[in-house]
Amino acid sequence: DLIPNDLFAAIDELKRELNAVIIAHYYQDADIQDIADYIGDSLGLSRQAATTNADVIVFAGVHFMAETAKILNPDKLVLLPDKEAGCSLADSCPPEEFAAFKARYPNHLVVSYINCSAEIKAMSDIICTSSNAVQIIQQIPEDQPIIFAPDRNLGRYVMEKTGRPLVLWQGSCIVHETFSEKRMIQLKVEHPEAEIIAHPECEPQVLRHANYIGSTTALLQYCQKSSSSAFIVATEPGIIHQMQRVSPTKTFIPAPATNNCACNECPYMRLNTLEKLYLAMKNRQPEITLPEHIRVAALRPIQRMLEMSA
Ligand code: 13P
Ligand code: SF4
Repeated sequence: DLIPNDLFAAIDELKRELNAVIIAHYYQDADIQDIADYIGDSLGLSRQAATTNADVIVFAGVHFMAETAKILNPDKLVLLPDKEAGCSLADSCPPEEFAAFKARYPNHLVVSYINCSAEIKAMSDIICTSSNAVQIIQQIPEDQPIIFAPDRNLGRYVMEKTGRPLVLWQGSCIVHETFSEKRMIQLKVEHPEAEIIAHPECEPQVLRHANYIGSTTALLQYCQKSSSSAFIVATEPGIIHQMQRVSPTKTFIPAPATNNCACNECPYMRLNTLEKLYLAMKNRQPEITLPEHIRVAALRPIQRMLEMSA
C-alpha cells in the first residue's frame, strides 16, 4: 500500500468519503490527537460513541474501547488502526477465570472497569470508568456487596474514597504500575514547585504522594485551573500533548519509570500510527466484530453506566 505524502489531507478526504468520525484517546501519538474529531478519556469516548451520527467510527485507542463503540453501534463499521492494540489490564481478567470467581460471590453486584473484554462486560451489572467509579459505587445501596474488577489499584482507591468494602479482582495495568516512588520523590526534590498528579490506576505508594488523583480528563482540567507552574504527571505521557496545548506556559514532567525506560508509554496504545489509521480507513479494516449474544449482554451494563453518570 502506497502511503501519501500528506497523510492529514488523505485522511480528511477519506473521512468525508466514508462519513467517518475519528475518536482518539489521550494516550495516542500527538499527530493522531491532532487529526481526531474528538479526543477524550474512556468515559468521554464512550459518550461520543453513543451519540455519533457518523457511519464509520475510526477508534484510535485500544481494543476494549473500540469494542465498546461497537457494542453501542452494532450497525456502524468500527475500525481500530492496529488490531493488536490490546490492554494488559483487560488481559489480566480472562472470562473463564472471572466466571469462576464470580460464582464464589453469588450475592454480589459486579461493577467492572471499562478496561475489560466484552465477555467480562457481559458478566457485569454496571460498567464504570476512572471518571465515574466513585460516583457509581456511591449510588449502590450500602448493604449491597460488590465485586470490583479488573483493576486492583482503582478498586483500592475507590474503597478508600467511598469507605465501601469491595471484593477485588487482582488485575493491573503495566503502564501505571511502572512508576517508581523513589525516582518520583527525587524528581520532586529537584522541582519543589511541581505538583504531583496521578491516575488512580497507579499503585498506592505513588498515589500517596499525589496532590491530585483523577482520570485523564480530570487531570487535564486540574492542570488548567491550578495556579501551580509545574506538574509531575503520573500517567501515560501522551496526555502531556493536551496539557501543554491548554496550558502553554506551564511545565509538565513525566513521572519516571523504575528503570528510566520509556515504559510509561502504553505499548498497546502506541501501536497505532497515523499511517495505520490512514490504511484502516482506506481498506475498511481491521474491523471490530463480536457475537450478537455477547454484544447484547455487554450493552446493558454500559447503558447503566451512562444513565448513572449522566
Ligand atoms: P481514562 O481514560 O479513564 O483516564 O483511563 C486511562 C486508561 O488507562 C485507559 O486505558
Ligand atoms: Fe491498558 Fe494500561 Fe494501556 Fe490503558 S495504559 S490501555 S490500562 S495497558
